[in-house]
Amino acid sequence: MERPRSSATSALSFYIHIPYCSKRCGYCDFNTYTPKELGTADLALITTPYVDSAINEIELAKHQVGQAIVPTIFFGGGTPSLMPSGEIARLISSVRENFEISSEIEVTLEANPDTITEKYLSEIFAAGVNRLSMGMQSAVSHVLAALDRTHDPANVKQACEIAKRVGFKHLSVDLIYGVPGESIADWQTSYETAFSLPIDHISAYALIVETGTKLAAQVKRGELVMPSDDETAEKYLAFDGAAERAGFAWYELSNWAKPGGHCRHNIAYWNGSYWWGIGPGAHSYLNGRRWWNVKHPTTYQSAISGGQSPEANSELLSEENMRAEFIMLQIRMKEGIELARLDSRECEQAKSFRDSGHIDGEQWHSGRLVLTPSGRLIADRIVREMLV
Ligand SMILES: C[S@@+](CC[C@H](N)C(=O)[O-])C[C@H]1O[C@@H](n2cnc3c(N)ncnc32)[C@H](O)[C@@H]1O
Ligand code: SF4
Repeated sequence: MERPRSSATSALSFYIHIPYCSKRCGYCDFNTYTPKELGTADLALITTPYVDSAINEIELAKHQVGQAIVPTIFFGGGTPSLMPSGEIARLISSVRENFEISSEIEVTLEANPDTITEKYLSEIFAAGVNRLSMGMQSAVSHVLAALDRTHDPANVKQACEIAKRVGFKHLSVDLIYGVPGESIADWQTSYETAFSLPIDHISAYALIVETGTKLAAQVKRGELVMPSDDETAEKYLAFDGAAERAGFAWYELSNWAKPGGHCRHNIAYWNGSYWWGIGPGAHSYLNGRRWWNVKHPTTYQSAISGGQSPEANSELLSEENMRAEFIMLQIRMKEGIELARLDSRECEQAKSFRDSGHIDGEQWHSGRLVLTPSGRLIADRIVREMLV
């Protein structure tokens, strides 16, 4: 169980998983559980013991890593905004007590616009959360219904206004496009609505039909029809152009930001920095080793209360794995990859995508591999062909 302490670790980001949602959305296969699935009528009854376990894991991180500076903390889910503000405060305090905190720390919390009140936001802001990421998904009611989402689109605007009043400078929304029944005009309505909000960041994801979800069953039965890949690609390109015109610059495959609005936590991840994932199913990466925790909250808590590590499995990354990972992650970014980091075969493969307009010719000329908007749509294929 004991892992060697790392003397080389200077920065360590924390991802803290909150594995609860009031209801599971039809498209989602995240590692999250509803009160019904957990056999409780009230989430409040289980959150305190869960946070106790998560704090034990933060202490385990301290024991194994030693000293580190924490530049970012990200509360993801699930629905972290279901967690009482006092519990969020306890988790942040534990990171503070065990590690040095960067003076510019970014602390993000994923929030469901339905659950937000001014009192709650003031309390988590006072506890140190300084960035909110809201699950907006769409501004069109029938699209939200196809996604099986419960919130009223007007709640997002109200939640952003409350957050601004409370003092949050950094606000982000998640959008989903390529939803059954969503027209190009519906998608435009959604993103134009997002642009009108007082936010500095947008994540836009193409809907993925995950195996085993309610959505997958509806699509299989023919009740919902997924749009064609061409239409979804058209939506990506339309969004990208409109976002740039609205002042949100593209910086990662699915992310756009106004100046200063980039999510530093995700950038650390894409840059291959070290991070520790707290909670069931959370992944961690440190010194060429990747590991992940047991998936179910109950198993996680039992491991911790029995004095065991919650780790389910791990892998050591070889030099070759690390290089492949570097290419896979860096190609997603606006800065792309320095050509000098590629070997001659990878460069040759990439050249054919440059010639077909998927890789930017001018950037190539100045020594970098940067995807064009059409290249971003086939990023996975480009990586696959470069790495064969
Ligand atoms: C953990 S959730 C965000 C917070 C909160 N649980 C919510 O949904 O409002 C992360 C994001 O992943 C995206 N997502 C989840 N499942 C997806 C799927 N099947 N296809 C595309 N995006 C998905 C959604 O945009 C969602 O907002
Ligand atoms: S999309 Fe968000 S709110 Fe919906 S089930 Fe998944 S994690 Fe929960």
